[in-house]
Amino acid sequence: MKCFYPIKFSYKCRKLRSAPNLNNKSNLSNFHNSNTSGTVKSSASGASPRSIRELYEEKAQHLRVFSFAELRNATNGFNKLLKIGEGGFGSVYKGSVMTLGGQGDRIVIAVKKLNNSGWQGHKQWLAEVQFLGIVEHPNLVKLIGYCGVDGERGIQRLLVYEYMPNRSLEDHLFNRVLPPLPWNTRLRIILGAAQGLAYLHEELEVQVIYRDFKSSNVLLDEDFKPKLSDFGLAREGPTEGQTHVSTAVVGTKGYAAPEYLETGHLTAESDVWSFGIVLYEILTGRRSLEINRPRTEQKLLDWVKRFPVENKRFSMIMDPRLGNRYSFTAAQNMAKLADKCLSKNRRERPKMSEVVESLKQAIQVSEEGSPSKSPAREQIDTISNEEPDQVHVSKSAERRMTHLAKLRENASAIGKRRFFMMQRAQETNS
Ligand SMILES: Nc1ncnc2c1ncn2[C@@H]1O[C@H](COP(=O)(O)OP(=O)(O)OP(=O)(O)O)[C@@H](O)[C@H]1O
Ligand SMILES: [Mg+2]
Repeated sequence: MKCFYPIKFSYKCRKLRSAPNLNNKSNLSNFHNSNTSGTVKSSASGASPRSIRELYEEKAQHLRVFSFAELRNATNGFNKLLKIGEGGFGSVYKGSVMTLGGQGDRIVIAVKKLNNSGWQGHKQWLAEVQFLGIVEHPNLVKLIGYCGVDGERGIQRLLVYEYMPNRSLEDHLFNRVLPPLPWNTRLRIILGAAQGLAYLHEELEVQVIYRDFKSSNVLLDEDFKPKLSDFGLAREGPTEGQTHVSTAVVGTKGYAAPEYLETGHLTAESDVWSFGIVLYEILTGRRSLEINRPRTEQKLLDWVKRFPVENKRFSMIMDPRLGNRYSFTAAQNMAKLADKCLSKNRRERPKMSEVVESLKQAIQVSEEGSPSKSPAREQIDTISNEEPDQVHVSKSAERRMTHLAKLRENASAIGKRRFFMMQRAQETNS
């Protein structure tokens, strides 16, 4: 699902005459002064002693600056066969580059190439470099480096990330070609994603509001460990004594908090709302918005409201692809947590560290494996002869992992072959 810029979109797309040097203060202050049309008004979570810019200058030394030619070679000329995705920013390609100071070792990378050369794209690129340059957490995707050049053929803005081989949570929840995600894997993924958000909100010297939490931005590594990607819309939280940051409204339809949509006032609680939506996506296997469903089911939130947690029909919301292979009690706890995250009044939403604790408890309940069956779901369950919960989960998860591992092996073998063949062909041609 693409990002949207519904109101107050006030940037004039203008061509950049020179490549922004991230060590050049004037470029960075330009970035701050022009940041998403809003002035930073506030901070709920205490003073940030240093600005993002200062932190960037201290912490982002590890980022590699790539030349355009290097990345063109790394992706075999941005070859279509190596294209692994497309989003609002541009296309994403798989590639490989030499490790720094390595003895011919190569690392696999994902290269995101900006499609349009407008001001908005440049700002997103810069935000991504700045924020990912200063953060470090197992649940945030690693930015390896970037490329920004203004050549004769216009400007080029690229980002180079660690490669995440298992696509996104969105793919695994909604793409029917992939086997359904087992319950315990769903819980582990959402816990990791919550830990990533908690780190951004509460554990950094500067509070970072992510602003684009959605299932397509939760990428999965080889072990299905989740990492948040896409920091192009991230913003520094409010400064001391302030309650919010005033911004233009940007984000993705179906995930943005109502008060943010109405006022443009951005807070960490806007991310908590989006998190609540993704929690329901995980439980139901439905997208936040699905226009090809009957009218009453198009908006996920409206639909789940018809089956409240304490109602005996609650289990009707659960993803049918799970069968009865989930813990009913843990599912109820997660729905209650989602409802708190989705409180109309943002002050009633939990902090992400509280969300993390609740999810850990839900995982414990689930792993202790005393599923309390729901009456409504029981009727459906009689159709299948599945064993309840744990024993079955581990067997099917094992089968699924083996299946995926095989697919991955094949895919990466084919991909690698293709990639190196093309690389060789290109080397011979050049
Ligand atoms: N580091 C990465 N490793 C592997 N695949 C990636 C990586 N980054 C992105 N992708 C792939 O590229 C796809 C597109 O990513 P991108 O973030 O550009 O768009 P999106 O999240 O689908 O949409 P939006 O632009 O609204 O964020 C992802 O869904 C994922 O499959
Ligand atoms: Mg994305």
